[in-house]
Amino acid sequence: MTAEPPHSDLSVVLVGRDEIAQRVAEMAATLDAHFADIDQPLVVLPLLTGALIFAADLVRQMKTPLTIEPLSAHSYRGDATRAGKLEIRLGPDDLTGRDVLLVDDIFDSGQTMEKMIEACKAAGANQVTTVVLLHKCRPDLPQRAEYCDFWAIEIPDAFVVGYGLDHDGRYRDLPDIGILAEHAR
Ligand code: IMP
Ligand code: MG
Repeated sequence: MTAEPPHSDLSVVLVGRDEIAQRVAEMAATLDAHFADIDQPLVVLPLLTGALIFAADLVRQMKTPLTIEPLSAHSYRGDATRAGKLEIRLGPDDLTGRDVLLVDDIFDSGQTMEKMIEACKAAGANQVTTVVLLHKCRPDLPQRAEYCDFWAIEIPDAFVVGYGLDHDGRYRDLPDIGILAEHAR
């Protein structure tokens, strides 16, 4: 853990780069064991842009044969009473019989994962497994826990940036994960 936040817009470093690297390596070994018996290459689907850095580090530690097919999501903001609609665009539209691994940066309410799983099943996927780097504890909210199979690190309910996670598109490039300072919001 770094004592001083390495960036002036972070109030505190929550997960330092060394801990991230260690947890990502452990997660890669866990996933290799989970997929030991698959007979076709695993299809890894990182959700852009947040999962980009986690997925890049994760797949380089995994030994399971795999392909990478990034996917994107677009959310359309609803009005005051309706939640925004999330539209997922899969790279491959045919996943018939394939085992897929959905990768995202953080699991919060679970809405994103739910929609991604739906999209994969609609494309014919056999087994859909999900992994996130961070799992946020949200005591205030009924989380759809059944949509998150694996997570590397649990964090408290705070808005975090770094290692792929952004605020308004910024801070994804920070090597550590931290809480954004008040002045930067
Ligand atoms: P969910 O659909 O509520 O689970 O939210 C997951 C998505 O919200 C992630 O893909 C992130 O893009 C975003 N998100 C949730 N919490 C944070 C955060 O603390 N920092 C940055 N992005 C977040
Ligand atoms: Mg995201």
